[in-house]
Amino acid sequence: MASKFASFAALALGLTMSVNVSAQKAQSFVVKANQPKATVAPTMWGLFFEDINLGADGGIYAELVKNRSFEFYNPMMGWKEQKRGGGEGTLLVHNRSEVNPANPRFLRLQVKSDQGDYGLINEGFRGMGIKQGNQYDFSVMARQHEGSKVALNIELVNAKGEKIGTATLAPSGNEWKKYNVSFTATATEPKAQMIVWAKGKGAIDLDMISLFPKDTWKNRPGGLRADMVQLLADMKPGFLRFPGGCIVEGRTLDERFQWKKTVGKPEERELIVNRWNTEFNHRPTPDYYQSFGLGFFEYFQLSEDIGAEPVPILNCGMACQFNTGEVVPLDQLDPYIQDALDLIEFANGPATTKWGKLRTDMGHPAPFNLKYLGIGNEQWGEQYIERYKVFEKALTAKYPEIQLISTTGPFPDGPEFEYLDKTLRSMNDARVDVIDEHYYRPAKWFRENATRYDSYDRKGPKIFAGEYAAQSVAIASPDNKNSWEMALSEAAFMTGLERNADVVTMTSYAPLFAHAEGWQWTPDMIWVDNLRAYGTPNYYVQKLFSTNAGTNVVPVLLGNQAVTGQDGYYASATIDKKTNELILKVVNTSDKAQNADFTIEGVKRLQGKGTHTELTSQKLDQVNSFEEPKAISPTQKQVNVKGNKVSMSLKPHSVNVFRVKTS
Ligand code: AHR
Repeated sequence: MASKFASFAALALGLTMSVNVSAQKAQSFVVKANQPKATVAPTMWGLFFEDINLGADGGIYAELVKNRSFEFYNPMMGWKEQKRGGGEGTLLVHNRSEVNPANPRFLRLQVKSDQGDYGLINEGFRGMGIKQGNQYDFSVMARQHEGSKVALNIELVNAKGEKIGTATLAPSGNEWKKYNVSFTATATEPKAQMIVWAKGKGAIDLDMISLFPKDTWKNRPGGLRADMVQLLADMKPGFLRFPGGCIVEGRTLDERFQWKKTVGKPEERELIVNRWNTEFNHRPTPDYYQSFGLGFFEYFQLSEDIGAEPVPILNCGMACQFNTGEVVPLDQLDPYIQDALDLIEFANGPATTKWGKLRTDMGHPAPFNLKYLGIGNEQWGEQYIERYKVFEKALTAKYPEIQLISTTGPFPDGPEFEYLDKTLRSMNDARVDVIDEHYYRPAKWFRENATRYDSYDRKGPKIFAGEYAAQSVAIASPDNKNSWEMALSEAAFMTGLERNADVVTMTSYAPLFAHAEGWQWTPDMIWVDNLRAYGTPNYYVQKLFSTNAGTNVVPVLLGNQAVTGQDGYYASATIDKKTNELILKVVNTSDKAQNADFTIEGVKRLQGKGTHTELTSQKLDQVNSFEEPKAISPTQKQVNVKGNKVSMSLKPHSVNVFRVKTS
């Protein structure tokens, strides 16, 4: 197979850049509100999370210290020795792998002079984002040497080296213990660093040197960045897919994601390299590791917090086929299968079971109600089918209620896709509940594929559009932009997803997060730096669909046809049986302002006013940014309804959601 990450030819923009503001004669649409066609699955609009682009460490996981346990390949990466006023000493990395294989290294700091100060500084993840007046929690595992009495002075400094927060700690005794101290920052700084000064003669051992803001999501100690989680919660997502993505597979099987190594006490979680560390020559990120402070317990908890079904994806005995493509022999898959069985027990089992007890001990006695499990990420070939069948047999035998997600590989068409799609659909010796499809394609592809699912087998497996995003230049090109044309084209495509909600039950844009200074892959839905986060136009499109889902699809027709691009129009409609509303989504991809008349059939009456939410830009290459985070964001106005008719004027290049109460 050709490399996915090799670029494909840049396609010319399919849409016109200028807009024509003179409105044309109104088109007449009919909405058949009393003809519900399909139930919209509560999981329809969800989220894909992967630790790519500093999504977890350096991103949503609020730890500010990089390489807190000295386990990076270069143990002092992110750290530097510090001296002032004649201070002298040594820093020596020790390895105790015999007694602590998950976290073998620690640092021995020896102070050698009564004069001045000696210590070490941590640079954070592209600096540390610090906010004036906020509290910060410093913690460290430490032990004194016999006869030593070394105190620690913690100093936060800004980019100029000026102090913006201090604290002191006096560890005692020669047993490992955790010490904590909190302090308040005196200034806001996006590029702070943290110095740990040691005072007093002797030696002290240090490990897990950590700094967290106190104002994490739900104020959980050692938790997640509240602003980033809030953006997710605001979307009211139906599910959260985690932990990826290719990260599930690993470049090698040794580097695959193993959920059991991500649970329990943070200091006992075994760090590994992040596979995106050196994936792209154009964006090398040698300091990218996975500390697993955000581990499977936290992913389940996050899902619960934001009202999303947890959707874990597990390694199926295959490493990433874009890298080594290593496979586990079929007769040696047991540990992988056991991981899957144990994960279900971890999520759903009672406290009397081994893994249910761990979840309980970690603070969540109630089950997480896991319902879905993905077997493999972007696998292809016979070797996937062989392995899927082994997983399916074992999982069905013990947990027949869990819906299994299989994959058709990285592309939405071509020989690999066709082989897997055909094979999965025709297998009679294994159950196939949901098939995961991925599409990273040009904007034009999205507009042209709004009818993709119209012809899918209504009785076959459900579809999970598990990763998709319009690419403005080429797959994984560093020049891709989250421009309005991409988001508008995705919206056009999404009306096709919604119209086919009887087949498509789960969808998610990918990737989710990117750090402005630490990304490898673009486009991404939400961009962050150390202090700020903003949603792209694609974010607002996703949010418009997920917060206006409705419960049942109803037909919306133009000249008795589904609206799939005629005159640049794309449309879908749902009713919400819980709120008695009609929800109409209309995308105008043309460069013309268009007047559209909608006749709503099959309702006794519509309330006098509805709301029209609009997302638009005059410029197809417009993006949001830290400076203009809401350059493209929704606006809302009221619209009058006459009888069962509503007229809307649709701006050029616009996504429109109309909601009205019915009776
Ligand atoms: O979303 C980025 C990557 O794209 C995912 O890790 C992978 O599944 C796909 O190739």
